[in-house]
Amino acid sequence: MKNKLSMETLASLCKRRGFIFQSSEIYGGINGFWDYGPLGCELKRNVREAWWKNIVQHRENIVGLDASIIMHPKVWEASGHVGGFADPMVDCKSCKKRYKGDNLCEEQGKKLIKTEKGFALPEGIKCTSCGSKDLTEPRSFNLMFKTFVGPVEDESAIAYLRPETAQGIFAQFGNVLATSRQKVPFGIAQIGKAFRNEINPRNYTFRSREFEQMELEFFVKPGSDQQWHDYWVEERMKWYQSIGLPAESLNKYVYKKEELAHYASACVDIMYDFPFGMQELEGIAARGDFDLGRHQQFSGKSMEYFNQETNERFVPHVVEPSAGVDRIVLALLCNAYCEEWIGKEDQVMPAEPGKQPPEGFEARTVMRFHPKIAPVKVAVFPLLKNKPELMEKARGVFDTLQKWFPSFWDVSGAIGRRYRRQDEIGTPFCVTIDFDTLTNNTVTIRERDSMKQERIEIAKLTEKIHETLA
Ligand code: GLY
Repeated sequence: MKNKLSMETLASLCKRRGFIFQSSEIYGGINGFWDYGPLGCELKRNVREAWWKNIVQHRENIVGLDASIIMHPKVWEASGHVGGFADPMVDCKSCKKRYKGDNLCEEQGKKLIKTEKGFALPEGIKCTSCGSKDLTEPRSFNLMFKTFVGPVEDESAIAYLRPETAQGIFAQFGNVLATSRQKVPFGIAQIGKAFRNEINPRNYTFRSREFEQMELEFFVKPGSDQQWHDYWVEERMKWYQSIGLPAESLNKYVYKKEELAHYASACVDIMYDFPFGMQELEGIAARGDFDLGRHQQFSGKSMEYFNQETNERFVPHVVEPSAGVDRIVLALLCNAYCEEWIGKEDQVMPAEPGKQPPEGFEARTVMRFHPKIAPVKVAVFPLLKNKPELMEKARGVFDTLQKWFPSFWDVSGAIGRRYRRQDEIGTPFCVTIDFDTLTNNTVTIRERDSMKQERIEIAKLTEKIHETLA
């Protein structure tokens, strides 16, 4: 049984071991921005790669795109972001704390009221910080970051940092279609940074102002929307399990008709059971022809697809699985974190929060990442660092493994301590080179979760590790 993880405990490990740092920490940090350290950026790369392989490289009807972050400002008029991409902002007149109106209401078991002009607060809403009821009415706050292109900072030079990667795909629909020889149904996928000037960034890296998206726009024949939407919800659920998130930690939230945007026919959020509640990792929406239709209208360029076999001409409908990389990384970190007490014979019991392990037991923190996404796959230890022949042999093993896997070399401290350090960053295998290695070319390989060790030939190491990553 896993104990409930506090986000402070996780953030502390992430900082101590180099997964995640506060951005610009030496200047006091900047709210809503995070940096991924040496281990965090490997973890994030593994998530992106697993997605790209699954979505693009292992399918013949999906191709990739890497569009610019700053696009023509008309893109955001066509997409509806200039007019409508706003959150209701509420300020406490007493203590000056600022809130996102819908969150403030939800925290108090109520719902923000939609009015003709915008939003209103229901009766009885209080500032959660000072308790005052003296709050401003919700005002619309556009979440797009504005900047200027070129040296003159006037209206005509205004541009936006993209709030989603999706529009780069829609805007290049014609070029990709013309050059890739794809036929509907087909998809265009993109991974990249997006920016939203969130009123209230929170829950560690969950809601940040700069974040990364992995989006697929899958173009289908009108009328087949539902079938493809169902298909992608199931595909995406399977993918989350393939990177190590257990089925019981995931949930699907199916939007009710009245919750859907007017152009959408279906939307499902894939949720993960974070310590701060069930929250969205990915939204999968059937958006009809809204996006291509709007770009056709605003640009004057045709977004139609012509099916030569059937002589049909139509603007394709789109199904959009849109995932947040940072949220997935955070879910993987939460899911992996485990504290246990282990005995001399490797007996294991769950650690009791705030207590010392019983006599003969010691505490270990272990990050149980799926080997496929673990930032380091294998660590290599020479048993003793003052024995040149052990060091030389171990170095040979390390050099070979490093050609295949992100590997870690550690010579300092007792072997037990070296194991603990690797457990804490989730390294699935530790290989120790001892005196027997010098005579028979075998090493011990120790598996992180079971802590079981086996002796195997050096020549079989690479194959054994490859097997678990497949
Ligand atoms: N394109 C959907 C989203 O950014 O949430």
